[in-house]
Amino acid sequence: MMLDRLSPQAPDALLALIRLYAADPRSDKIDLGVGVYRTEEGDTPVFAAIKAAEQVLVDTQDSKSYLGPEGDMGFVHALMPYVFGSADPTMGGRISGMQTPGGTGAVRLALALAQRAGVKRVYMGVPSWPNHAQILADLGLELVTFQHARHDGTADLDAVLDIIDNAGPDEAVLLHGCCHNPTGIDYTAFDWDSIADAFAGSGAFPIIDAAYQGLGQGLEEDAAGLRTVLAKVPEAFIAYSCDKNFGQYRDRVGAFYILGQDQTALDTAFSNANALARACWSMPPDHGGAAVRIILRDPDLTAQWLAELDTMRTRMRQVRDALAAAGTAGRIDLTPLGLQNGLFAMLPVTKEEVATLREEHGIYMAASGRINIAGLTSANLPKFIAALAAVAQ
Ligand code: LMR
Repeated sequence: MMLDRLSPQAPDALLALIRLYAADPRSDKIDLGVGVYRTEEGDTPVFAAIKAAEQVLVDTQDSKSYLGPEGDMGFVHALMPYVFGSADPTMGGRISGMQTPGGTGAVRLALALAQRAGVKRVYMGVPSWPNHAQILADLGLELVTFQHARHDGTADLDAVLDIIDNAGPDEAVLLHGCCHNPTGIDYTAFDWDSIADAFAGSGAFPIIDAAYQGLGQGLEEDAAGLRTVLAKVPEAFIAYSCDKNFGQYRDRVGAFYILGQDQTALDTAFSNANALARACWSMPPDHGGAAVRIILRDPDLTAQWLAELDTMRTRMRQVRDALAAAGTAGRIDLTPLGLQNGLFAMLPVTKEEVATLREEHGIYMAASGRINIAGLTSANLPKFIAALAAVAQ
């Protein structure tokens, strides 16, 4: 039988954790697995600004007829001042975009288009979001890795510069724009300057995955690195996600932007991107992107969204400060977590210790040792630190 030729695949480890956690009957279990924001009460509510925009959508949307592979261009354009700066969001007409199903769709499209344009090899700092490698493997692109971080908990600038300096014209370098997933270790402003200079002097093609804007240091601050690169290079791809900073996870809201040398180059690139999208998902889901467009075109809703984003960022910063203030848990030094950004941090724990934390203490985290900072609250933090101290001796 044809289906007998398939071999079983392990479920995605990160997504499998969602089910494992749900099936655990312990009332004091702690979910530090998949990357969703949680409140101090442990909830992941729909943003009030999104609820209000959805109501506007229900009241005013007069058709659900097809839009096209590029999706809702009002949404795509409304985001641009936030990503690329309000002074010149198109960089003199050199940036355009299209809507994608989540940030994953944008990453997929960026890599597929790079491949269509002749890219054979992609360099990526590791550890990285596991799906990056899965998408590359599925496309048949060669992945070459380098170490993203040093042991002291800072980004390894020399490693990335060495890669960019030596990469050729059929090679791309995939970077995280901010809130590095899984380490939380971002490049500094100085690092980004050097990275931008390196790209400017090399044939390597920059692809920047920006999935967490606003969850690190602030909306503008989190975009500064990618803007520094774009200001110095002739071409680049940007994969953008609204799933986290608008809390739209399951509605799959993303955008793919291209920086090109001129309008002709952009038109040709997007004719290819549209063809790739059409052959893959045809058109992106509309609802979430339309809600974001409604928010960003309404000053009151925009202010509400920004306030909600501030609350999230402030809470995550407080959790990081509390972890750093704890100093150590067993052999684990928690102080670097106070300097990192976004939802994630990596703990130097073994797979066995991760399993013990789950089985004996009801604490769920990725086997890599990645924790979702937002899963910690003032109520469960003491238990987490005590369990970590007991397990990681
Ligand atoms: C994560 O890293 O946990 C999130 O980006 C969710 C996902 O799709 O993996």
